[in-house]
Amino acid sequence: MNLILLGPPGAGKGTQAKRLEEKFGLLQISTGDMLRAEVKAGTPIGLEAKAIMERGDLVPDSIITAMLAARVSRPDAAKGFILDGFPRTLPQAEALDAMLAEKGLALDHVIELQVDDAALIERIAGRFTCASCGEGYHDKFKRPAREGVCDKCGGREFVRRADDKAETVAARLAAYHRQTAPLLPYYRAQGKLRAVDGMADMDSVSAALAAILRGGDAVDSEARRV
Ligand code: AP5
Repeated sequence: MNLILLGPPGAGKGTQAKRLEEKFGLLQISTGDMLRAEVKAGTPIGLEAKAIMERGDLVPDSIITAMLAARVSRPDAAKGFILDGFPRTLPQAEALDAMLAEKGLALDHVIELQVDDAALIERIAGRFTCASCGEGYHDKFKRPAREGVCDKCGGREFVRRADDKAETVAARLAAYHRQTAPLLPYYRAQGKLRAVDGMADMDSVSAALAAILRGGDAVDSEARRV
């Protein structure tokens, strides 16, 4: 099974992709995580992407689609994947369709996590992750069980993202509405779009996603908005 989690910054794509990865044995492919790894390693892609990401703009389609194509071609993607943060523009969506067709693969679901802009800002401002294993936390919504200790690996160092500053978040939200939201009618026209209420608590969102993956309740996002 191959799926896309679509949604604005802070909607919960990463949180839910990790849960789906564990529950359904799929591979999470996060273009944001891949880019941050390139930045950390100081590669040519990382050097180009760093300033763009810190401004809250999108990295050029050519870089992203080449990176994604290479990742999808690796053997571990054969078990099925969850695209988290890709595609983000129409050219990326078209490139993905071509890439999948060439490999004889199909997209099973495109799921939009719907969250209000005000809630996104609160979620992003409070987000932090374990520096060792990358487990995600939130100042208000998900604190480690033992203060200062990662639930997953016992790590004691936590980091906050450079692009989670208020001014960058505003630019990231604007980029979502301008460049990524047009993907909703694109996938609706393909009959693949489903929507989940991303304002619900994390476990309720996970349950709604699992229902879609198991072929249960699925709600078209246009129907929800009427
Ligand atoms: P990327 O890393 O993809 O960031 P993003 O899309 O902005 O998404 P986030 O990671 O901020 O949020 P999320 O939806 O994963 O939320 P999370 O689960 O963490 O991209 C970063 C940058 O890289 C881009 O700006 C761009 O420059 C570049 N880039 C990446 N892909 C690209 C592409 N395809 N094309 C061009 N450029 C690209 O949740 C957020 C917080 O909320 C967490 O603390 C979590 O604990 C909490 N939370 C989650 N769910 C809930 C809930 N239901 N209730 C309460 N709190 C919750």
